[in-house]
Amino acid sequence: MESPNSGEEFRPAQDQDVEEVFLSRSDPGRRIRKHLQEKLEQRRCQLWVGLGLLLTAAALALLTGLLVWHFHLRRDVQVKKVYIGSMGISDQTFTAEHEDPSSNQFRSLADLVNKQLKLIYNENSVLARYFTNSTVQTFSPGDEEPDGVVAYYESEFQLPAPQAAALDEAIASLEAAAGSQRSGRLILKPSDALSMRGVSSAAALDPRLTQNSVSENKPIDVHVSRNGSISSPGFPDTPYPPNTFQRWRLRADPRHRVRLDFHTLNLEDDQCQKDFIRIYDSLVPIEPRLLTEQCGYPQGSLSFVSSGNVMLVVLVTNKDKNFPGFRAFYSQIPAADGECGGTLSGDRGTFSSPLFPANYPPKAHCTWKIQVPKEKFVKVQFQKFAVGKRGTSCLDDYVEINDEKLCGDVPATAMFTTQSNEMSVSFKSDASHVYQGFTADYEAFVPSNPCPGTFKCSNNRCINPTRQCDGFNDCEDNSDEFDCKCDAMQMQCKNNLCKTKFWRCDGIDDCGDNSDEEGCVQCTAGEFSCRNGRCISDQLLCNGQDDCGDGSDESRCQKSLQLLCSNFTFRCRSGDCISKLNPECDGEEDCEDGSDESDCACGMQPFHSSQIVGGQPSREGEWPWQASLHIRGQGHVCGASVLSDRWLLTAAHCVQDENAQADQWLALLGLHAQGQTNEWTVTRKVKRIIAHQNYDHKSSDNDIALMELDSGATLNQYIWPVCLPSPTYDFPAGQEAWITGWGATMEGGTAANILQKAKVRIINGTVCVNLLQGRVTDSMLCAGILKGGVDACQGDSGGPLTVTNAAGRFFLAGVVSWGEGCALRDKPGVYTRITRFRSWIKQHSGV
Ligand code: ARG
Repeated sequence: MESPNSGEEFRPAQDQDVEEVFLSRSDPGRRIRKHLQEKLEQRRCQLWVGLGLLLTAAALALLTGLLVWHFHLRRDVQVKKVYIGSMGISDQTFTAEHEDPSSNQFRSLADLVNKQLKLIYNENSVLARYFTNSTVQTFSPGDEEPDGVVAYYESEFQLPAPQAAALDEAIASLEAAAGSQRSGRLILKPSDALSMRGVSSAAALDPRLTQNSVSENKPIDVHVSRNGSISSPGFPDTPYPPNTFQRWRLRADPRHRVRLDFHTLNLEDDQCQKDFIRIYDSLVPIEPRLLTEQCGYPQGSLSFVSSGNVMLVVLVTNKDKNFPGFRAFYSQIPAADGECGGTLSGDRGTFSSPLFPANYPPKAHCTWKIQVPKEKFVKVQFQKFAVGKRGTSCLDDYVEINDEKLCGDVPATAMFTTQSNEMSVSFKSDASHVYQGFTADYEAFVPSNPCPGTFKCSNNRCINPTRQCDGFNDCEDNSDEFDCKCDAMQMQCKNNLCKTKFWRCDGIDDCGDNSDEEGCVQCTAGEFSCRNGRCISDQLLCNGQDDCGDGSDESRCQKSLQLLCSNFTFRCRSGDCISKLNPECDGEEDCEDGSDESDCACGMQPFHSSQIVGGQPSREGEWPWQASLHIRGQGHVCGASVLSDRWLLTAAHCVQDENAQADQWLALLGLHAQGQTNEWTVTRKVKRIIAHQNYDHKSSDNDIALMELDSGATLNQYIWPVCLPSPTYDFPAGQEAWITGWGATMEGGTAANILQKAKVRIINGTVCVNLLQGRVTDSMLCAGILKGGVDACQGDSGGPLTVTNAAGRFFLAGVVSWGEGCALRDKPGVYTRITRFRSWIKQHSGV
């Protein structure tokens, strides 16, 4: 039976009314029950109201309490704020003793500074009230006035928490006052007062610089008037220690700047949360003078220049991890070297931000006035542009051109023109955060004929007319590809662009509207569409058999099913075969015996937890498997890859005929710049050369050779083997790959001094055979950038073409073998396909 009040509690009032009417008509007994029920209801109501009142009262009391606490008691919560600043002193001369905190000179000048600061703070009621004490951290020689001294100090204030903002304001007003009055502040001076040149103060230290867990080392003071280097503790022999806080204070002569060039910088890559380097344009870590923060393995320019004659480098590390740290070379340059701007005349020329390609210094300001002959106009295009932070509104650093402010990245397509024969370009950097800057080309043009003899793009670029309608976007705004009539080798996209027929149905949207990939295959549901256009049943995917005929049904297998062995499976040491694509050294055990992860001391760039035409210089240690092969008396001839401590892999064509003798070769491992061996470079004689028995110099087929060193080289972060792919490893077309070498940086050009790197793509085999008129065999692999401009070249031969796997390891896909010219359009580079030679390598070297 239902209990009297069951189901009543949340019933809406309206329903009750309806029910009552219904009840009264039907059953008097139930009416009594109903009455009782109402009574009960009433009482329950009262109870609820009481409870509600009680709760409200409690909440009010709590609120009042909180307000009282906030407005009254919290006033008494005291906080400590530390400000850090610098002060120029012109009537003192800097001496070596000023660097030694225990010297009398240091102490007496520090006393004077403290007195002076106290006087300054006394001028302001807020500062006077809360100031507790100041300590001088260090001194540096004055910059603009050779006789002067700059003092760096910390001032501590004790104040009720709500006053913090007022204090910040008071400190800021001090700085403003100092800025407007460069010398001799008008304050009451004691008889031994200092003649000051200005105070610059700023809010507290970065909390990460004051963590308790780190042990703070004594700052290292360095004079940069003599060149030298600083490096992280233990560098290069051991990784840097954990929980370190180290400062280097670099001082240059007056009217000079400090220049710091990192040679190695390799810290833990954790978004600079735990391990990082910070560089300041000061001797103390004032945030508004922070030039940069770096961590991980940065790729940009790592040359920094100060605005004045001091710089501070701070290294902070936390837990123990295996990273090498840094080494940076310091020097001083005359302050005038950072000056920039001026008048540019002549029909064309180039100008760049101060000290480019080093990062520009802070507080730089320059203006270029470009003046070309009367009847001409000016156009300017940036070759490189990195000014200020990306995505900001050009408040800090910027280039101003035609009244337009530019910062962050400027697209390469951008062209700036004037309607007169004059143009003014200015550049400004603020006191913090520096970047690499820019280089720009300017050119005069006749307004009626802006591109004489060439094609004029909509964006005002001029390009070689043969590049029009060739399927490549040369103008970079596609305007050279509009209104074209496609030739016999081209297909027409829906958007009317013409593209090489080879690109049709290759899985890449070449048209830009994907029309080259439409209607390629119409496989039905339950079917897989092969790369070659065939349709096969989904059931046949990843079964280890090439059902498509081009292997594409076996090239994307994630499962590690055991299968019959085939060209498309990976063979574990046990002899079992698994279906997963490229399972070796990907960080997951796929074979039951774990053999896919067992030989993996290879392919990692140093300490990472996680020539070349058209390339760029690499960083020291970036490609530890790259070796340079020298012929005695001739220097660098070919590249090679380190396979183990005593075996190198190179191209057979490097070691033919007069170069076949082992004793005329020297192998240089751990080399960065030709002619500059250093403590990491190992030079070895060659004991034995094994060129492939079937190398054919006419066709370049089987262009591969092994070199055995006369003694083993110690493997370390600068000398490390590359991973060799198993015979069934797949390097799919379109995948990104790296080429590295000291070869020519231009067809017919001279060899590079610093090891170059360039990113290319693996090119589809059929496309390559077509492009190179059938000279490509199955044992070759093509890679390049079909638009041209990026390629290996003379002197790169024998060197590596590498591809990273899912775990970030580098696998050797090819050995630089041959090409038609260098970096020509539609002429990719040709490489020896390593998967074809995996067992040959094993057989002859044991690796
Ligand atoms: N055979 C050349 C050498 O001896 C390498 C050619 C590579 N050429 C190319 N375009 N990818 O260095």
